[in-house]
Formats: sequence, structure tokens, C-alpha cells
Amino acid sequence: MRYAVTGAAGFIGSQLAETLRERGHDVVGFDAFTDYYDVREKEENARGLDVRRIDLADDADFAGFDGVFHLAGQPGVRSFGDVFELYVRRNLLASRRVFEAAAAAGARVVFASSSSVYGDAETYPTPEDAQPQPISPYGITKLACEHLARAYARGFGLDVVTLRYFTVYGPRQRPDMAIRRIVDALATGGAYEIYGEPTSRSFTYVADAVDATIAAMEGGGGVYNVGGGEEASMLDVIGELERISGRTLDVRRAPAAAGDVRRTKADVTRIGADLGWQPRTRLEDGLRAQWEWASARVGAR
Ligand code: UGA
Repeated sequence: MRYAVTGAAGFIGSQLAETLRERGHDVVGFDAFTDYYDVREKEENARGLDVRRIDLADDADFAGFDGVFHLAGQPGVRSFGDVFELYVRRNLLASRRVFEAAAAAGARVVFASSSSVYGDAETYPTPEDAQPQPISPYGITKLACEHLARAYARGFGLDVVTLRYFTVYGPRQRPDMAIRRIVDALATGGAYEIYGEPTSRSFTYVADAVDATIAAMEGGGGVYNVGGGEEASMLDVIGELERISGRTLDVRRAPAAAGDVRRTKADVTRIGADLGWQPRTRLEDGLRAQWEWASARVGAR
């Protein structure tokens, strides 16, 4: 198959593109290489892949592709204030072009949405039909993209599957995310700030998220949660990483961050039944892999 991966220089997109190639597919990546974090890190992620530099809010064309994995976007739940314009452009305006171009090309789309559409969810574990009530501008743009995908399905026959990823972690995790900051602080001796009261998450290991994403291209439809099996509090994560690294984290407390949900816990019954997917990586093993990646990078071992 010939696949397009948007966001192919990113944390999940680059590992998805590599896995697709290993499985024998033709893969072309698209990425705007925005400066949300160090562009050199994205270039490192994209090394060895065919990644074209393009801003999808300006232009998208998927003629000749069988499928489009749409992972490009402006991530991060701390999204109030003037940055909202970036979220609108990089999520909504870019997705509009992606959905339109994919519909025109007859290419199936797997769209990367987020657990943040649930906000402080009405039930835990949270199934896909729980009422979405995002509390961050980021989550609002992701939910709007989901609606847009549905509108293009209805109006233009777009074949689209939406995945709601739950806090994905592992090697190459974005430098603004919690586990990445923790492993970097452990490796370099820096401090880590906990925002507000410690939260908990259905952490999802990146290789499991990649498997779910490929399975969604190959079958199923509608919306699926992609969430790790174990819910863990940030304090559990810190304790586990201290044990794995044999170091002590310098923890500071900071004010709570607006837009941050207290808890996520995915109900993955639907994706299990439809696609046979389930999270396989134990949190301890995933954290160890991320620690090894991070500590090798800073030469701290
Ligand atoms: C993550 C991603 O950043 C989003 O792009 C994604 O859409 C979302 O998961 C999702 O699952 O939908 P988040 O769960 O906030 O968002 O992930 P982290 O940035 O790793 O934060 C985890 C927790 O640690 C949050 O409660 C956050 O406030 C906290 N945190 C983060 C800190 O206390 N200190 C930090 O320096 C960073």
C-alpha cells in the first residue's frame, strides 16, 4: 500500500512511518517542522524517512495514496491565550484540507484525536459514547476536527476512522510532556515541577499506539479509544522512574495548569472487539525503554 503520514517528523508519526515501512508499505511523510519544540529533534525523528516539508493549512494533495494517517497538529493541552490561533490553524484549518484532499483522492483517513475531548469525563473508564466536554482550547479544536471528519464523511464520502489517544509515552516523546521532563531531569540532575495536585493517566506506550493506528487503517470505523491498560498517578510514575534510574528526582510544586484534566482512564472494549487491539506494554517496561532512550541521548549512563 502507499500511505501518507502527516506529522511524520513527530513523536508518534515518525515511529508509525518507520513501522509501516518495516511492514513493506510505501510511505511518504508530510510535516511543517514547526518550532513548537526544537526542530533539530524533529529532524532526528525524520532521519531515514521521506518527509516533505509542507504546511497542510496551505496545501494538501493525496492523489495516488491508498490511505492517509493524519497525525499532524498542534499538541499540548496548555493552550489558552494567543496561542489559540495556532491551534485553530494547525488543527482545524489543516484538517479541513486533509479531509477534503483525502476525500477527493478516495484515500481512507485515520485521524489522531485525543483523550482530551472528554475533559473531566462523566464516567471512568470512559467509553467512546461518553459526552465529550473538553476543558482546554486544544481539546476543543480536536473535537471540532472529529466533527469535521464526520461532516466530510457525510457530505463527500470520506472514509475516516478517529482514534482518541491517551497520553502516549516512550522514546521520542515530546519535550513538553511530563514523562519526558521527568526522565530528562533524572538524566541531567535538573528539577521537575508538578502542576497542582498530582493527576493520573491511562498512559499508552508508543509502539502500542502505532499498532492500534495501523489496525484502524486496515479495518473498523467510527471512533476508538487508544489507551494503556494501567492507570497510574504521576507520583507512581515518578517513583517507578526513580527506581529504574537509581536516582532521586528533585521535585518542586507549581500552580495547577488551566486545561489540565484530573484523570483519564480509557475503556478499550470497542477497539478490542472491532480490531482485536489491546495494550501490551506494561508501564514498567515502557518507562524503562523511555529512560534508556533519554539517558543515552544525554550520555548520562
Ligand atoms: C497529553 C498530550 O500532551 C496531548 O497532546 C494529548 O492530546 C493528551 O496527552 C491526550 O491524552 O489526549 P497530558 O495528558 O496533559 O496531555 O500529558 P502530559 O503533558 O504528559 O502531562 C501529564 C500530567 O503531568 C498532566 O497532569 C500535567 O499537568 C502534568 N505535568 C506535565 C506536570 O505536572 N509537570 C510538567 O512539567 C508537565
